[in-house]
Amino acid sequence: MSAPAWLAEGRTWVEAALERALPSANEPPARLHQAMRYALLGGGKRLRPALVRLVCLELGGTEAQAAAPAVALELVHTYSLVHDDLPAMDDDELRRGRPTLHVAFDEATAILVGDALLTLSFEVLAGDEPLRAREHARVLARAAGSRGMVGGQVLDLSLEAGATPDTLAALEDMHRRKTAALFAAACEMGAIAAGRAAERARCAAFGERLGRLFQAVDDWLDVTGDAATLGKTPGKDAVLARPTLVRALGLEGTRRRAEELASESRQAALELCFGPGTALHELSAFVLARKA
Ligand code: IPE
Ligand code: IPE
Ligand code: MG
Ligand code: MG
Ligand code: MG
Repeated sequence: MSAPAWLAEGRTWVEAALERALPSANEPPARLHQAMRYALLGGGKRLRPALVRLVCLELGGTEAQAAAPAVALELVHTYSLVHDDLPAMDDDELRRGRPTLHVAFDEATAILVGDALLTLSFEVLAGDEPLRAREHARVLARAAGSRGMVGGQVLDLSLEAGATPDTLAALEDMHRRKTAALFAAACEMGAIAAGRAAERARCAAFGERLGRLFQAVDDWLDVTGDAATLGKTPGKDAVLARPTLVRALGLEGTRRRAEELASESRQAALELCFGPGTALHELSAFVLARKA
């Protein structure tokens, strides 16, 4: 199956599950619940939850087993976007093709929506089968916390802009934490969901490479993309003088680095016995070519 086909299937599937996991819009406090729904149900590629489902299915698990970790991961990812867009961070006004949450509502609501999405994700996991729930919670908390996504966001805000070759390693470490940690968690949770403990490490390694590729392309698209396709405002990294791959390597160099990462991620798929023609193998080319 081609990457767009399984991604579309995964998106439809996870959106129904997200709808069920969220409080209804009229449940008090209604404004908070409306804002949570605004953040979560208004678009997004759903790549991470689709990956949880795909890995789980490819390893012999079921959609039912993938549901809780997929929903939990998209809740955490969406919270990270709501906070990333705040004035104290990237100060963005467009996300998923609509005004960012703090623009559509207000800043305090955006902070609290992030808090509520993060906590809801662990409530969702707690409803899963106990042994799997414990492992999912451990993997997700680790990937999202100070050693993972949150730590990467801090590094992004604190790294010197205009990285030189000897800071390239620091830049890639930041990408590993802020973005690749959640992709690694997606794939590892797919293996946990399918009950394939022996594949966890190889799945995490594949997700990590795919996530680094994803962020390399994100840096590239910030310079080359347009708002209508991206659903977010391009050019912000330069305005904010952020340390990005494009700043360190230039556009051509970033493209070359992305191609190397795509090849590493195909290699990692092969190590999981997913060869050419399988969705997990073809995914690297899809992420490399993405325009949104
Ligand atoms: C955006 O992620 C944040 C990054 C890690 C670059 P996505 O591009 O997956 O955002 P959505 O979920 O599709 O909106
Ligand atoms: C954000 O990276 C990664 C997160 C953990 C949210 P960016 O700041 O580059 O993401 P975009 O470009 O705003 O989506
Ligand atoms: Mg950011
Ligand atoms: Mg941002
Ligand atoms: Mg970006």
